[in-house]
Amino acid sequence: MVQQSESKHGMWSSRLMFIFAAAGSAVGLGNIWRFPYLAGENGGGAFVLAYLACIALIGLPILISEILLGRAGRQSPINAMVQLADVSKVSRNWQVIGWMGALAGFMILSFYAVIAGWAMAYVLEMMSGRFVGVDPAQAAASFETFISDPAQVVAWQTGFMILTIAIAARGVGRGLEVTVRYLMPALFFLLVALVIYSGVTSGRFVDGLAFLFQPDFERFDSSSLITAMGQAFFTLSLGMGAIMAYGAYMPKGSSIVGTAATIAVLDTSVALMSGLVIFPLVFANGLESSAGPGLMFITLPIAFGQMTGGQVFGTAFFVLVSFAAITSSISLLEPAVAWVVEKTSLGRVKAASLVGGVAWLLGLGSALSFNLGADWTLPNGFNFFDTMDYVSNNILLPLGGILIAVFAGWRLSGETLQEQMQEDQGALILWRFLTRYLAPVGVLIVFIVTIF
Ligand code: TRP
Repeated sequence: MVQQSESKHGMWSSRLMFIFAAAGSAVGLGNIWRFPYLAGENGGGAFVLAYLACIALIGLPILISEILLGRAGRQSPINAMVQLADVSKVSRNWQVIGWMGALAGFMILSFYAVIAGWAMAYVLEMMSGRFVGVDPAQAAASFETFISDPAQVVAWQTGFMILTIAIAARGVGRGLEVTVRYLMPALFFLLVALVIYSGVTSGRFVDGLAFLFQPDFERFDSSSLITAMGQAFFTLSLGMGAIMAYGAYMPKGSSIVGTAATIAVLDTSVALMSGLVIFPLVFANGLESSAGPGLMFITLPIAFGQMTGGQVFGTAFFVLVSFAAITSSISLLEPAVAWVVEKTSLGRVKAASLVGGVAWLLGLGSALSFNLGADWTLPNGFNFFDTMDYVSNNILLPLGGILIAVFAGWRLSGETLQEQMQEDQGALILWRFLTRYLAPVGVLIVFIVTIF
């Protein structure tokens, strides 16, 4: 196949900008909000160890596969899969990867915008100084009051969604790239500043470090292993075509393996550094490391409220979370936006509004799960938000991941593979082994065990 050198949607201006964009997608609520609380609940170091192994052995090969398929196809994941199936002379049914991905994207984006909205609201809450000197009961009550007001939650969700749509509407170069070009370095500096602030003012940096790196196998069981694998998936944005869509805009001529490794290292460092912001604060204030999802919205305001400069640094923390969330949400929108642009005569502005509008509508269900709709539950007790989260993360992403690995490892034409892996001949055999055997089997185990 003669590889197209450009995508019709535009291109990243350099390999570095691709790295910023993909790392921007990967680094998000998953790193700052989800990773620390999961580590807290599953024995700290033991969980971190399993998570690192999953990133290296399952995440990295699939990350490479997604970039490779995207760059070979140069279109939205759905159309790229149709084209790659044709050149590889296999069934066009493989485009199901793209369709399932789009569905997962809608579902994840719908609830992601709700939580990101909370984070944006907390920028103002922290700034207002209302957390200065609060006790745990007050911080919890404040969070409860906030999420039980549907008008507020929906307003913030809507604001976040409008921001996401506006960036996506401006296109790959003027929208996505401009955003990651400024927000990624800002995010990195904020995070380093917060690690230092947290370590210095709490005096418990070493305890945070020990918690993350000293394995406690007592609290680590088989379900922790599965949680670690699922987290590896979610945090690298794998399994729904987001990275494939971004790969379509990656310039040719640079190593995919090296690029993917850089992204994985950046993403992992941000997760570990978030742990190093949060745990010293938690320990210094005698709070619970296994507080669950409330760790970020209840525990941190208490900690910041007790500390010198807490108002400023607490505000900075939620700015960081909001930045990380926006550079992720644009990647959740991109596969479907690119597809609509390819398939219809709607331009990017209308395509982004349409796709974002649908995700917003679906997200209302999650926004209301904490207030008006708290009683709309399935027999197992899941509310709308829990259901979206569960189906997308535990079913659609792993299934998408298996299909991507199997297609890239077993079905993709050798010629296309060679063309994309020209710069990576040395790593080809290892990638192939991991992609053909280890990754699908690993994911299959996650998948089966999570469902049953
Ligand atoms: N990786 C992001 C996070 O950790 C979330 C995300 C963005 C994502 N795009 C995705 C997750 C695609 C799965 C698939 O917050």
